[in-house]
Amino acid sequence: MALKKLVAGNWKMHGLSADLAEVEAIASEAQRYPAVDVALCVPSILIERAARAVPGFPIGGQDVHHAEKGAHTGCTSALMLLDAGAVLTIVGHSERRDAQRESDAEVKAKATAALSVGLSVILCVGESLDVREQGGAIETVTAQLDRSLPDSLEGEAELAIAYEPIWAIGTGKIPTMPEIAEMHAAIRATLRGRFGAAGEQVRILYGGSVKASNAGEIFGIRDVDGALVGGASLTAADFIPIVAAGAAAS
Ligand code: 13P
Repeated sequence: MALKKLVAGNWKMHGLSADLAEVEAIASEAQRYPAVDVALCVPSILIERAARAVPGFPIGGQDVHHAEKGAHTGCTSALMLLDAGAVLTIVGHSERRDAQRESDAEVKAKATAALSVGLSVILCVGESLDVREQGGAIETVTAQLDRSLPDSLEGEAELAIAYEPIWAIGTGKIPTMPEIAEMHAAIRATLRGRFGAAGEQVRILYGGSVKASNAGEIFGIRDVDGALVGGASLTAADFIPIVAAGAAAS
């Protein structure tokens, strides 16, 4: 049976107090589509206010430190995210893997730390344009995933995977539908290999230039269980039509 779709927004480094009205609009309009789970991952400093503004609507972080606490200037622990009202967090986004040089081992530690306190996790993987053009995308992404996955899926919190080809992020370019299908099937096989039947329940999101105009086609692909949306998640006007496409494909 198909999994319930998850459409999550990643606001990246966008969002001031004035944008809380947009969070409220998204949370309110998302209620019209109960067939889809909707969430927003906002800058850490906005989490508490966003969570207070939209009680019951899932607000998430965009990164988490793997340690419980300690001398890590500028970092945020899983318990801090939870304490601020987050219920999920992204880990391993390619922008952090690149700019902050995060390794697969670190991403695994972050995912493990978040899940252990009950924060759901969206773990990102994806290949560069070079790797795609050289024909190594499947091998690269499944190896990256294998090294980044937590050892077990025990506990209440949910793990989801986001396949985000780096060259598709913020560029308006997306892979072909057969390329997305092939990658999601490979990710599913990796999850099944690691977690058995539980691997069938892990949602696999596609991310990279998702918009209202392409969401329907992407959501129609087998093993695409939702989307991680950047630029088009910043306003209800752009984001809600993507949620609606998720509902229509459910
Ligand atoms: P865009 O939707 O802006 O391409 O960003 C995708 C992304 O990186 C989401 O995490």
